[in-house]
Amino acid sequence: MSELSVKHLLGIKYLNEKDIQLIFETADHFKEVINRSIKKVPSLRDITIANIFFENSTRTKLSFELAEKRLSADVINFSASQSSVKKGETLIDTVNNILSMKVDMVVMRHPNPGAGIFLSKHVNAAIVNAGDGAHEHPTQALLDSYSIREKLGDVAGKNIVIVGDILHSRVALSNIFALKLQGANVKVCGPKTLIPKYIESLGVEVETNLKKALNWCDVANMLRIQNERLDISYFPSTREYTQQYGVNKKLLNSLDKEIVIMHPGPINRGVEITSDVADSKQSIILNQVENGVAIRMAVLYLLASKIK
Ligand code: CP
Repeated sequence: MSELSVKHLLGIKYLNEKDIQLIFETADHFKEVINRSIKKVPSLRDITIANIFFENSTRTKLSFELAEKRLSADVINFSASQSSVKKGETLIDTVNNILSMKVDMVVMRHPNPGAGIFLSKHVNAAIVNAGDGAHEHPTQALLDSYSIREKLGDVAGKNIVIVGDILHSRVALSNIFALKLQGANVKVCGPKTLIPKYIESLGVEVETNLKKALNWCDVANMLRIQNERLDISYFPSTREYTQQYGVNKKLLNSLDKEIVIMHPGPINRGVEITSDVADSKQSIILNQVENGVAIRMAVLYLLASKIK
């Protein structure tokens, strides 16, 4: 029987190409399940999962919770802002207290890069990273690649550009790892101040001219400026950023070919993407969200099979 090479999902960096294909094949099955009239299977009936979120989330939190419920797992939700973390309890104490209630898996979002890796070394449960600071967001990258595969048939050989705040984006790093593993050609595009100096060592090319990048690509993954992580100003003004790196319908219509538009959300309409692009038939933004449930079902199912 095929199984993942890892016990935790801490980052795409720790997966291999076979892991990704196994997750996609498993997600294909679960996508069929969630389109049935009865959208639930008993696969994780004996598993309890804690979703612990130390940072805000709409898509990831709800998508994990729905995935867990569709798999018949027992689910508890923890929000740091309403917890005893506010009284000074440490991360390890918090999680060990949750685990003593017979919890098997932890899905965690945390503002600190490496928080999931740290936790996996100190507690006895399978850990799923739901985003750790500016480090990785592995399930987002998996659902992004899965959505490209669904739309274009394959990821291998496709030209993908990631546009925007690459420096502060966990989505960018996880996408780069995932896309390169699958044989895609990857460029990043944005102001030089928002592109890390090490990026080319990951096998990625830099293109600072948005129109050139869009004419090269099959898919443009538009990222928002991570304002919550900006310590200084990286560009003169939002208006100038939008003029140089925002995608609007006029720009899309001026390209040599029709490209696919993606965005992990949340969208800042009118900044990195206009509404007539976000809501156009070229956009697969809501397909990404839909696919997130099947991908997270696949990840939880495959990790749970290693603790049974
Ligand atoms: N894409 C994503 O991580 O969105 P949320 O922050 O709403 O979970």
